[in-house]
Amino acid sequence: MRVFSNLIGACTLGALALPTTASPTRRASKPAYVTHPDRVDAVKAAFQRSWDGYYKHAFPHDSLKPISNTFSDDRNGWGASAVDALSTAIVMGNAGAVAQILDHVQHIDFNVAVGDISLFETTIRYLGGLVSGYDLLMTPEALSPDLKPLYSNRTLLDALGHQAENLAKNLMVAFDTPSGIPDNTLRFSPPRRNGSTTNSIATIGTLVLEWTRLSDITGNPQYGAKAQKGESYLLDPQPRALAEPFPGLVGTNLNITNGQFLDGTGGWVGGDDSFYEYLIKMYIYDPVKFAGYKDRWVLAVESSMAHLASHPASRPDLTFLAMFSGTTPLFISQHLACFDAGNIILGGLVLNKQQYVDFGLELAASCHDTYTSTVTGIGPETFSWQDNGTLLAINSSRNGAAPANQSAFFQKAGFWIVDGQYILRPEVIESFYYAYRATGDTKYQDWAWDAFLAINKTCAAGSGYSAINNVMATGGGSFQDFQESFWFAEVLKYSFLIQADDAVYQVQADNSGDFVYNTECHPVRAKAKVGKYMY
Ligand SMILES: *[C@@H]1O[C@H](CO)[C@@H](O)[C@H](O)[C@H]1NC(C)=O
Ligand SMILES: *[C@@H]1O[C@H](CO)[C@@H](O)[C@H](O)[C@H]1NC(C)=O
Ligand SMILES: *[C@@H]1O[C@H](CO)[C@@H](O)[C@H](O)[C@H]1NC(C)=O
Ligand SMILES: *[C@@H]1O[C@H](CO)[C@@H](O)[C@H](O)[C@H]1NC(C)=O
Ligand SMILES: *[C@@H]1O[C@H](CO)[C@@H](O)[C@H](O)[C@H]1NC(C)=O
Ligand SMILES: *[C@@H]1O[C@H](CO)[C@@H](O)[C@H](O)[C@H]1NC(C)=O
Ligand SMILES: *[C@@H]1O[C@H](CO)[C@@H](O)[C@H](O)[C@H]1NC(C)=O
Repeated sequence: MRVFSNLIGACTLGALALPTTASPTRRASKPAYVTHPDRVDAVKAAFQRSWDGYYKHAFPHDSLKPISNTFSDDRNGWGASAVDALSTAIVMGNAGAVAQILDHVQHIDFNVAVGDISLFETTIRYLGGLVSGYDLLMTPEALSPDLKPLYSNRTLLDALGHQAENLAKNLMVAFDTPSGIPDNTLRFSPPRRNGSTTNSIATIGTLVLEWTRLSDITGNPQYGAKAQKGESYLLDPQPRALAEPFPGLVGTNLNITNGQFLDGTGGWVGGDDSFYEYLIKMYIYDPVKFAGYKDRWVLAVESSMAHLASHPASRPDLTFLAMFSGTTPLFISQHLACFDAGNIILGGLVLNKQQYVDFGLELAASCHDTYTSTVTGIGPETFSWQDNGTLLAINSSRNGAAPANQSAFFQKAGFWIVDGQYILRPEVIESFYYAYRATGDTKYQDWAWDAFLAINKTCAAGSGYSAINNVMATGGGSFQDFQESFWFAEVLKYSFLIQADDAVYQVQADNSGDFVYNTECHPVRAKAKVGKYMY
């Protein structure tokens, strides 16, 4: 997650809407789903190809460089790709990879780290991966026949649980700040803060699901309590007039000494994104304890529909969410932000609000266009557009025309490209997944399949898959020789799940599912539905 804009705008505070009090509802019916065995097999084959390349050339390091057949320890050297691949290997029923990963987990030494540690990245990839592996292995219906013997195996569960706790204990020092807002950057041996003075809402607000789940698995309440304390500053943003330009929509950076916001610039983009995502996911996790989180999510979505929904001048049929600096909209967005469609659909299902589902489907269709409009059939990292006059007058200072050399492209596509790289990100396919689970409309399976085929064709490189530099050049322009661990956790899992059989870990349109996905696509069991799985 990244912040690409550091504008701090003056702003005025709109009147706060009253929070809604909807309780979790079960919808009467859910759609029929279709399985595509041929597509499932193709995605599994892509997983195997990547896994084999990683295992041969990079394991037990973090990431494969598939062209040079070397590795990178970009995530502190604990085998990020292996841990991130665990829940995907389990749902795919890949017994060989699962055995290799579970063996690796027992040998990770979380007391030593290569490089500076990101609390956020470590939480979503490692803690999320370990806790999800634990929850899946505790769920017999989640396991394929050859994984069934692993069900409830105390040795394996203890290894996952102990390692998650070993890691969390070392990370706890992050919360030793005057406010309790964590410092995102740490060093180990011994664990200590690196001395940051600020942190962003995404990196503060995307811990609470993993840390709360760890508390519920271990029976030690302090993990969840620390993450919830940091989150409390995001739920009650101060100083209001600066921090909350629209009800529920807040700035990006906070002072970790006094807990005050430092700006009123934000959106559903990197640096902010998964803060909003987790508000509704915590409500799914425990609708009683986290009802207040849901109220904040509802405010943010209502404000986004009212103040950020933007239609490109050349393609008013599309809808993108603008960023904001104070109350001024900024017509720029990212591949990362395309998760917003799926998250708003999910909240619509959970709260039984069809208008949220419909709005999310509109956003998903527009993110689809960022794929179909390019040469490779893959969407860009960052894009921009001119609003059709709904939010700002055409040609006004913040709403200018496309650059001359992309004017023709903008006329046709409805956006222009600011950064054309693609680094194996999942968010567009992720939103197709939620759109499909909500509607059962097979067009979303087809969109996900087309996206998978485009990525599989363009990014296959050497012993795995690589980030590319230009979605507007045949073949992606050039390769970055880097395979992110989230390729395993997210792109391959969403591509698989949307074509696969219904299962206990799939999202259910009638809100009957037992799992909620962290931002790295690791399914964790929702506490309110745990019962027999807890001890
Ligand atoms: C649990 O898993 C471990 C490691 O795979 C294995 O050695 C052990 O036999 C299993 N225990 C049971 C009770 O199946
Ligand atoms: C950690 O602190 C060092 C020394 O102040 C600094 O150079 C480095 O950029 C910091 N790391 C991060 C990720 O902020
Ligand atoms: C954060 O707040 C403290 C205490 O009020 C202040 O001394 C410090 O300058 C602030 N830091 C930033 C980055 O605003
Ligand atoms: C912008 O597009 C939307 C959606 O097509 C339309 O409803 C609205 O009237 C347009 N606004 C202007 C000012 O043209
Ligand atoms: C906006 O400016 C462009 C030239 O930059 C011009 O072609 C276009 O007609 C203007 N549109 C409006 C609605 O003023
Ligand atoms: C458009 O022009 C800018 C500025 O000269 C250049 O940096 C950019 O690469 C060009 N983009 C395209 C798509 O040709
Ligand atoms: C995916 O890419 C791999 C590697 O190039 C290729 O072997 C495989 O046939 C492709 N799968 C599909 C469905 O096109």
